[in-house]
Amino acid sequence: MSDRTPEITPHEGNLLVLTPGLGAVSTTFIAGVEAIRRGQAKPIGSLSQTQTIRLGRRSEHRSPLIKDFVDLAPLEDLEFGAWDVFEDDAYEAAARAEVLDQEDLAPLEDFLHTIEPMSAAFSKEYVKRLDGPNVKQGATKKDLAEALREDIRRRKKETDADRAVMIWCGSTEIYMKPSECHLSIEKFEEGMENNDPSIAPSQLYAYAAIKEGVAYANGAPNLSADIPALEQLAEQNDVPIAGKDFKTGQTMMKTILAPGLKARMLGIEGWFSTNILGNRDGEVLDDESSFRAKEVTKSGVLGTILQPEKYTDLYDDLDHKVSINYYPPRGDAKEGWDNIDIFGWLGYPMQIKLDFLCRDSILAAPIVLDLALFLDLAQRSGRDGIQEWLSFYFKSPHVIEGHVREHDLFIQHFRLKNTLRVLGGAEPLTHLSENYPMSENVSEPTASPNE
Ligand SMILES: NC(=O)c1ccc[n+]([C@@H]2O[C@H](COP(=O)([O-])OP(=O)(O)OC[C@H]3O[C@@H](n4cnc5c(N)ncnc54)[C@H](O)[C@@H]3O)[C@@H](O)[C@H]2O)c1
Repeated sequence: MSDRTPEITPHEGNLLVLTPGLGAVSTTFIAGVEAIRRGQAKPIGSLSQTQTIRLGRRSEHRSPLIKDFVDLAPLEDLEFGAWDVFEDDAYEAAARAEVLDQEDLAPLEDFLHTIEPMSAAFSKEYVKRLDGPNVKQGATKKDLAEALREDIRRRKKETDADRAVMIWCGSTEIYMKPSECHLSIEKFEEGMENNDPSIAPSQLYAYAAIKEGVAYANGAPNLSADIPALEQLAEQNDVPIAGKDFKTGQTMMKTILAPGLKARMLGIEGWFSTNILGNRDGEVLDDESSFRAKEVTKSGVLGTILQPEKYTDLYDDLDHKVSINYYPPRGDAKEGWDNIDIFGWLGYPMQIKLDFLCRDSILAAPIVLDLALFLDLAQRSGRDGIQEWLSFYFKSPHVIEGHVREHDLFIQHFRLKNTLRVLGGAEPLTHLSENYPMSENVSEPTASPNE
């Protein structure tokens, strides 16, 4: 699709945000939106709510908030719906996840009790360390997908929503590669009828969403909408899709640091990354087959940033190791260590040690919000299929076949904002002198340095 979209259908009525998974990330997102709506908290970490966007030359001093520049659904219009294999409502699930303090949850208790999980399309085969009672029964996978479609329609009615988006916040499924039944819509539908084991539950949710005209993003590393069958279906049904695996914690830091080291042409001999975490996500990832899916998305980021094929002297021998350790005492308060062995002038070695005591779901929740609002905007702008401009939010960006998966956070950010400029009817910025002539630079030292 072209980067220029002349017309956007204005937002009107409620926007339903559906999350398969009512766990740490989704409850932190839902509780956060409600706290913000009530004026009890600020939307820190959300570009859609807090970031400005420069339009035209710096000397024009036009830098509105993104949300005032493009037509995003306001937070007041958001409604929620979720599925989970456990029966806990959003309050109980949030209390169990222990991300938010009791004193922050207590004022939201009544609201959170109203969000009860719909029964899940789930099979233990795909998430080995998980089992629960709130699971749909169906003779075929097609029946399960139809039941999910029915859930979407019902929840839209219940919440009086005109539009919906779905963000996968469910557990990481086992590592899978695309197979025959993923190659076309017909084969995929046939595969669902025949209970093909290559079709995982997250693919059923993605299928159901796309069939219902609901935009879909995958926050986990498993194979979901990134298969030809669902890519084709998304284009056919005018539905935007994006993925995969929210870029938080250690990978966010990696994609901030690596472009900086490369910009300075410093070499990297090794990058050793390890994590400890103790939430349910950590427990699921303790299983080798789910960890493999995560390992692949976490490990892939350095290659396209550093371009070892071009900069052989600097990055060709880079040894990149990633591990995750399930350590229950930590709960959601993950700790990520990085040891980076770099080298400089004449090959002299140096080391960088990074210890990030992060809160995974606190970093992920604003990503869910931004994705929901930007996917809805994309759909109202007539953009369908893979939304590469949303790569900023993902560890392993879902891109069109043959396109490079961009991991550099700054390039991703630049593209995100330029796409928003175009969607808002403004010119994209190039940062060339036409945008910012030297004379302006000198005469206006106080002009905003930001985009
Ligand atoms: N927290 C982060 O920063 C972060 C970053 C990147 C990716 N992720 C991914 O996001 C996902 C959610 O993370 P979380 O910390 O909220 O995990 P969580 O374990 O707290 O929540 C996931 C929920 O999904 C449910 N679930 C699993 N399979 C399901 C299915 N088929 N249908 C409906 N519900 C299902 C589980 O019962 C669980 O309650 C995970 O896949 C995780 O890897 C999280």
